[in-house]
Amino acid sequence: MPRFRNIVILTGAGLSAESGLSTFRDPNGLWAKYDWREVATPQGFAKNPTMVHDFYNMRRRAHATIKPNAAHIALATLEARHPNVTVVTQNVDALHEAAGTRNLIHMHGEALKVFCRQCDARHTWVDDLSVETPCPACRETGAMRPDVVWFGEMPYHMERIGQLLGRCDLFISIGTSGNVYPAAGFVAVAREAGAHTVELNLEPSSGATLFAEAIYGPATEIVPAYVERILRDTVSA
Ligand code: OAD
Repeated sequence: MPRFRNIVILTGAGLSAESGLSTFRDPNGLWAKYDWREVATPQGFAKNPTMVHDFYNMRRRAHATIKPNAAHIALATLEARHPNVTVVTQNVDALHEAAGTRNLIHMHGEALKVFCRQCDARHTWVDDLSVETPCPACRETGAMRPDVVWFGEMPYHMERIGQLLGRCDLFISIGTSGNVYPAAGFVAVAREAGAHTVELNLEPSSGATLFAEAIYGPATEIVPAYVERILRDTVSA
């Protein structure tokens, strides 16, 4: 394996599955139980904000018990031992941070944050949210929403992600089905930049043929093994 100088890692729900969080598109995933149009669009929120708050309250509450798994920890170890690693996550959970990853971009927002549509203030939030909750900054009621990106909204930090992809020489996609853009298009951008591209997933994703290398299996097994390989060949070589 060549020495890699700039590593970008894209993560998705499969990374957190073995921590006990549901993925979206697996047979028992969230989108088998909930209609994404109702709980993950601005239109759904306008129509039934209580239903949307309940959905995110449930996901926020899960943070009281979940813990990072061996794959999250391996990625934090990689960052600690390699000078240029950025994790771009589609996950709204806080498991990368809990594992120790610092160079982290939450492109789909964060379950433990909320923002006020009235004054734009953002707040860290662990409790339930409702249409009655006043904004701690402006006191407006009914304007608070989860700080997550819904379908039809622009993911966060796209300019910075584009710059990172444009100069990476290793791109690793972990635990994502490759169904949701723009994240599903990152592999093509990284390839264009000349990066080695790797998919680590339970099964081939929708974009599997775009990757130069692929390893399939549970994230807690294949991610630590791949990180060990990078550290052995890239850092200590
Ligand atoms: P998906 O549910 O679409 O895909 C999860 C992927 O993880 C699948 O390819 C699974 O095979 C794989 N997987 C499941 N368990 C795994 C394990 N233990 N180890 C490794 N891989 C495993 O989730 P995402 O691709 O993250 O966006 O979904 C992308 C976006 O769609 C989400 O951020 C969310 C969702 O709708 C919004 O809500 C805007």
